Amino acid sequence: MTLSEDGSYTAYSKEYEEHYHSTRDGALKESLVKHVEPAFKIKQNQDEINILDICFGLGFNTLATLYYYKQNSLTSKLNIYSPELDETLVASLQNFTYPKEFEEFKSIIDSICKDGIYEDENFYIEVFLGDAREYVKKFENKFDIVYQDAFSPSSNPMLWTKEYFSDIKRSIKEEGVLTTYSIALATRLALYENGFNIYLNCGENFRDATVASPSSLVAFKEVDMPHKISCNPNARPLRD
Ligand SMILES: C[S@@+](CC[C@H](N)C(=O)[O-])C[C@H]1O[C@@H](n2cnc3c(N)ncnc32)[C@H](O)[C@@H]1O
Repeated sequence: MTLSEDGSYTAYSKEYEEHYHSTRDGALKESLVKHVEPAFKIKQNQDEINILDICFGLGFNTLATLYYYKQNSLTSKLNIYSPELDETLVASLQNFTYPKEFEEFKSIIDSICKDGIYEDENFYIEVFLGDAREYVKKFENKFDIVYQDAFSPSSNPMLWTKEYFSDIKRSIKEEGVLTTYSIALATRLALYENGFNIYLNCGENFRDATVASPSSLVAFKEVDMPHKISCNPNARPLRD
């Protein structure tokens, strides 16, 4: 475990040679400011909210969503779908040192570790042990929110290609919102070439991130993609 800047612990993957979260931004803070808060800025007032959490990892994005939900007294039914390749990691999370903000979710974590699923009257959480590339193909016009939080494009390129985002586009609703920490032009192009509008998610105490949606969003500053492309004529999205 590695202590990150906001006092929460993250982990390091030897296989991908990367931390699961930005140690500079902090694990909990990164989940909140780069994923949960920008997504819920757009999506709140719905009876039911379907979320695709790519990928489950230590579960911070899912747990930070529950935390945000409780803090803001939301009432929507939340359905969270999250693929994860690493079965051993998921099974080990019962023993992970989570921030105190997640203490009330201990029984939820235990249930996910044991059965890969949790359900009560407000939440349905499903962790699919397998390949995200196959998993996302199952869904069409389903998700209100997609947290795109794979390891970086350089270490896990298969979860950042134009073809992958084509499947994500199929799975997200027209009014849906995708959040990601990546501001790489190749990532933004892969989204843009699949019909997403691209927005900047910025704030004072964290590094810039990206929000994308098939629809127009007024809550975020739009990235001028035609201008970026004309300044970088050789830029290309990653491909399968
Ligand atoms: C950056 S971590 C995710 C962090 C997570 N969102 C969190 O908040 O803790 C990336 C995760 O993707 C998983 N992964 C990598 N390739 C995958 C694939 N093809 N399908 C499913 N999971 C994958 C890794 O095992 C790792 O747990």
